[in-house]
Amino acid sequence: MSLYPPWTSVSEAAALLVSGHIVAIPTETVYGLAGNALDPLALAKIFAAKGRPVFDPLIVHIASIDSLKDVAQNIPPAAYALAEAFWPGPLTLVLPKQPCIPDLATSGLFTVAVRIPEHPLAQEIILKAEVPLAAPSANLFKHVSPTTAEHVATQLGDKIDGIVNGGPCKVGVESTIVSFENGEAVILRPGAITPAMIESVIGKVTLKRSTSNPGEAMLSPGSMETHYQPRIPLYYGTLPEKFILPQNTVRLAFGQTTSRLPATLNLSKTANLIEATAHLYAYIHELDTPPHEFILVDPIPNEGLGIALNDRLQRASVKKI
Ligand code: TXA
Ligand code: MG
Repeated sequence: MSLYPPWTSVSEAAALLVSGHIVAIPTETVYGLAGNALDPLALAKIFAAKGRPVFDPLIVHIASIDSLKDVAQNIPPAAYALAEAFWPGPLTLVLPKQPCIPDLATSGLFTVAVRIPEHPLAQEIILKAEVPLAAPSANLFKHVSPTTAEHVATQLGDKIDGIVNGGPCKVGVESTIVSFENGEAVILRPGAITPAMIESVIGKVTLKRSTSNPGEAMLSPGSMETHYQPRIPLYYGTLPEKFILPQNTVRLAFGQTTSRLPATLNLSKTANLIEATAHLYAYIHELDTPPHEFILVDPIPNEGLGIALNDRLQRASVKKI
């Protein structure tokens, strides 16, 4: 049974965060499990609640471009150009860290991941708490990210100190992560800020599909092959011809794709990628329940925002059937 509601208010959340507690907060991408980024004990609580390995570093959330220099240093002009263009918004920049950022936040890396979230409640909470907030997605490690306060309550409700309900997340998938390697911008995780949008500001950018495994040093562990998997098998791809679908197979459709199975839910009947992204995790949460045995997902074009959708679905998919 969920302990929620009552949901935590913005001022309660700020007070809890300042005193070293951990609180789930809404952002425009997914809900984050926030703690004071400068407090190693709060960071340890985040890792413990999620069951997240400490080699997977956190994103630090700030409220203004001015405060970027408090958490990062040697910031390249291209990073400022992207910040000016897309903050507040679903873009995370990986930059050399300031010494005040604890090793636990960065898993010992010399870089820190930073973003300014667009959700007004997230901004209010950061401003009230007056500290940068470390916040990974508010889900159990490897599980599907939450896009509603109810998703958080189901996965983490009894393990954390509060949940602020800001309604369903507008974007629906995690932020685009960009790092700068030898002066070149590299996308470590695709998101709503697409490669074309980034290129329109700073020129050429490469998309890096890293596939690190747990236990290895990794550049962006959210890029693990088996991230985001629901509990029941989800399959994204062309089914082998002779494959017999389990009896309680449900189909997550996209647009007007035809199939031998009726659509159980449709990410976007008009094949709108923004709408599909906003629905993706909520629909996976909804289908990931008994008596369903198997989730089949329609193909989605791998362009623009579809790049992020394909990335998440490929990782969520069982690899062999
Ligand atoms: O939209 C988002 O980014 C959400 C909301 C809550 O802001 N947060 C989120 O956090 O998705 P999380 O922890 O689920 O994903 C953070 C990703 C991980 O893949 C992590 O490896 C990567 O950011 N990351 C963090 N610090 C990094 C660093 N210094 N270098 C490279 N990757 C880093
Ligand atoms: Mg995550």
